[in-house]
Amino acid sequence: MAHEIKNPLTPIKLSAQRIEHYIKNNSLDKKNIFSKCTEAIVRQVNNIEGLVSEFSNFARMPSGKFKNIQLNKIIEPQINSQKSVHKKAKFNFRTTNENISVNCDYQQLSRVFLNLMKNSFESIKKKEKIISIFATHKDNNIVIDIEDNGEGFPNEREKLFEPYVTNKFNGTGLGLSICKKIIEDHGGEISLLDSNLLGGALVRIELPKK
Ligand SMILES: Nc1ncnc2c1ncn2[C@@H]1O[C@H](COP(=O)(O)OP(=O)(O)OP(=O)(O)O)[C@@H](O)[C@H]1O
Ligand SMILES: [Mg+2]
Repeated sequence: MAHEIKNPLTPIKLSAQRIEHYIKNNSLDKKNIFSKCTEAIVRQVNNIEGLVSEFSNFARMPSGKFKNIQLNKIIEPQINSQKSVHKKAKFNFRTTNENISVNCDYQQLSRVFLNLMKNSFESIKKKEKIISIFATHKDNNIVIDIEDNGEGFPNEREKLFEPYVTNKFNGTGLGLSICKKIIEDHGGEISLLDSNLLGGALVRIELPKK
């Protein structure tokens, strides 16, 4: 978000300096320039205002309704809807234990898998697109790996969790930050790793066993 705010600050500062310059030189007849400068200031301040209110909406995400839900009841519908949109991509889902259930908010956790599968799909440039989800119990946690055969994560991975950090032309950069917020609200952790299995990215989610 920092650079999104910094961007409009430059034209604001430049406009103010231009006004100052003309006032100092007593060229108060330059009405046209003054109104262009004040217009730029108002427009850019509106920009920042929009960003900040969008951000606080996002920070005020409604608190979850927690229930015990079987993981496959969350993941399978998301996979099916991805399959119907991307007919040629391969989506796999495996678990070691039949009944992995999580104490979670259904809508929120569904959103995590949707965002992650969307990211995976978008990162794969190859013709054969493979996205695989694997869930297991480990110690007192449920571990869920979402991996793909895409390009893998770019450098500075931790930055990718920050809102508005995107490498896509049409991206908002909110996907991963929303995932992180939801997983942390569930008492879990999310990390960005490399997929040994498929060669692309691996996102690991660890949630406490109920
Ligand atoms: N599976 C992945 N493989 C490679 N890079 C990824 C993957 N997932 C995320 N990224 C990188 O992390 C960045 C941030 O992801 P995030 O979901 O937060 O935003 P976005 O996907 O760019 O935008 P939006 O979610 O609004 O479409 C992406 O732009 C991309 O560079
Ligand atoms: Mg995304």
